[in-house]
Amino acid sequence: MHLYLHIPYCAAKCPYCDFNSIAGRDGEHAAYVDALLAEVRRLPTGPYATVFIGGGTPTALDHRELARCLAGIRDHIRLAPEAEWTCEANPGSADAEKFRILAEHGVNRLSLGVQSTDDATLRWLGRIHDGAAAERAVAAACAAVPRVSADLMFGLPGQDAAAVARDLDLYRRHGLRHASVYHLAYEPGTEFHARRSRGELAEIPSEDSRRLWSAVADGLAALGLEPYETSNFAAPGQESQHNLAYWRGRDYQAAGAGAVSTVDGVRLTREKHPAQYIAAITAGGDAVWRREALTAQDHLAEAWMLGLRLAEGVDPARLADLGDDPARWRPLAVPLIDLGLLVERDGRLALTPAGRLVQDEVTARLMP
Ligand SMILES: C[S@@+](CC[C@H](N)C(=O)[O-])C[C@H]1O[C@@H](n2cnc3c(N)ncnc32)[C@H](O)[C@@H]1O
Ligand code: SF4
Repeated sequence: MHLYLHIPYCAAKCPYCDFNSIAGRDGEHAAYVDALLAEVRRLPTGPYATVFIGGGTPTALDHRELARCLAGIRDHIRLAPEAEWTCEANPGSADAEKFRILAEHGVNRLSLGVQSTDDATLRWLGRIHDGAAAERAVAAACAAVPRVSADLMFGLPGQDAAAVARDLDLYRRHGLRHASVYHLAYEPGTEFHARRSRGELAEIPSEDSRRLWSAVADGLAALGLEPYETSNFAAPGQESQHNLAYWRGRDYQAAGAGAVSTVDGVRLTREKHPAQYIAAITAGGDAVWRREALTAQDHLAEAWMLGLRLAEGVDPARLADLGDDPARWRPLAVPLIDLGLLVERDGRLALTPAGRLVQDEVTARLMP
């Protein structure tokens, strides 16, 4: 079993971010932890192979609330042997003591939102940390837990291959074995999106994006980190087991504001706003505002979309189980294979590096 827990708070809202996260509201944190733990206590006890506390920023909680939250989770759930327990952290709201608290309660993997190592770039991104803070946070995380990942953002105006190389050196300096690298996306509803609409910001040319992506992929390959998903790179065996389970279409339990669970074909989405979530749980309700029974068509669409994100690709046997006849998709796949965008490897269907650059188009062609 897999479990996702959401902490919706951040010290400040980044101007590009459309995650379910909200700044401030520190006075609400204790009530939120109470509500989250009440929901956790209603979940099956496990054993869980993976747990992932994401956000928002789990480390936006102060030391006391963080410890209380983790202890409450540990009191209720059982972890499978060798379980992976990840927590996200922002270098600007984490310190060695928070990492120690996390490790003490069983967290064995930290994922840090570094984004960049360059002070000016971090300021432009509206981040609350600078390069030195990122360096300290990564070092403290490595001292606290066995596995550390860092998020980077690329595709930023003015960013060149040399800047990417300087950022990637962080992984070398600290011996990190996992990287998540995201192209800056202008998400509707964000400040960056509004600024782009006003003509104050512009997307970089796609040719530049591709050049930067090659710099990312080549730089990480030189460090022994291979792409295993569209935005994720790892040394062999260091992949995020939690996210792999999600991309492979496994069931996962969840708790927290805006958190989504999928169990036995039923997908539940919880109230996004923490105040509404707290009110619903405190009143004895489940805070679920959307309940979907996934259809065979939904499962199939996700098998294609998520499967093609993975380097391992889509399993035709799984597609057949979900009712997709090779007689439908094979004639669509053959021209893509001939174009070098798709490859059949180990009996599975995967994107090539060239196909990865046009992932959305290739996926759309193959989908039922
Ligand atoms: C929940 S945050 C990680 C933890 C913490 N909140 C932080 O930002 O440090 C998830 C990651 O998504 C990425 N991200 C969020 N919004 C993005 C956007 N609009 N474009 C590209 N990457 C984005 C960032 O790399 C960020 O680290
Ligand atoms: S990028 Fe992270 S820190 Fe920034 S607003 Fe989003 S969730 Fe919060």
